[in-house]
Amino acid sequence: MVASPLIVAPSILAADFAHLADEVHAVEGAADWLHVDVMDNHFVPNLTIGLPVVESLRKATTIPFDCHLMIEAPDRWAVGYAEAGSYNVTFHAEAAADPVGLARDLRAAGSKAGLAIDRDTPVEPYLELLPHFDTLLIMTIKAGFGGQKFIPQLLDKVRAARRHVASGQLELRIEVDGGIADDTIAAAAEAGADAFVAGTAVYGAADPAEAVRRLRARATSAVAGGATASGAGTSPTTMR
Ligand code: DX5
Ligand code: ZN
Repeated sequence: MVASPLIVAPSILAADFAHLADEVHAVEGAADWLHVDVMDNHFVPNLTIGLPVVESLRKATTIPFDCHLMIEAPDRWAVGYAEAGSYNVTFHAEAAADPVGLARDLRAAGSKAGLAIDRDTPVEPYLELLPHFDTLLIMTIKAGFGGQKFIPQLLDKVRAARRHVASGQLELRIEVDGGIADDTIAAAAEAGADAFVAGTAVYGAADPAEAVRRLRARATSAVAGGATASGAGTSPTTMR
């Protein structure tokens, strides 16, 4: 067993935007974080929600917010999401001019700092930056849309990051995002992920809270039963 619980973060991208507060309440008590996908129609083709929605929703729930910024110029915009009370703010490595400086600014504004790596970006060039971050988000699809098919080959990046975290004794969550569901979460957990975003698998289910609990149970039993040479389960983090 890992000492620290695994994180399951439902993505509201798959929720009914006309009833966002109700959709969030549906996972209260089950979800660890609420994953909020911010897309700007530039960094990715899709357009979703932004700061005003985060500010309003923040008042409607106590679940910690995990904001995933798929936007250009995060150096300009990301701190606003920390100031709005987000628990964690993740921006993309491909978009940031000064990732380490921005991580410092996010922490100074009161949130955790996350670095995201899209499908076609190798993780190796960013490993040395990880001491400045609390979260590394590894996309398991191409960022931009929910409901895509999980790409198992991208778990090689999770394994590489987990080895690096274990060897450097870093306190860092490794989060996976895209196509995480009942049939894929165990592989992601075995590869070394300890935070799991799930949109369709949660909000497409008849009972979203039950879906969250089932996902967590599958990930937890995968880690408990299968600590491997990848290092999965050998480096529990204490950060929630
Ligand atoms: C896509 C977003 C994901 C998305 C995942 O770019 O970052 O968070 O909501 O959706 P599913 O779980 O349906 O793949
Ligand atoms: Zn996301």
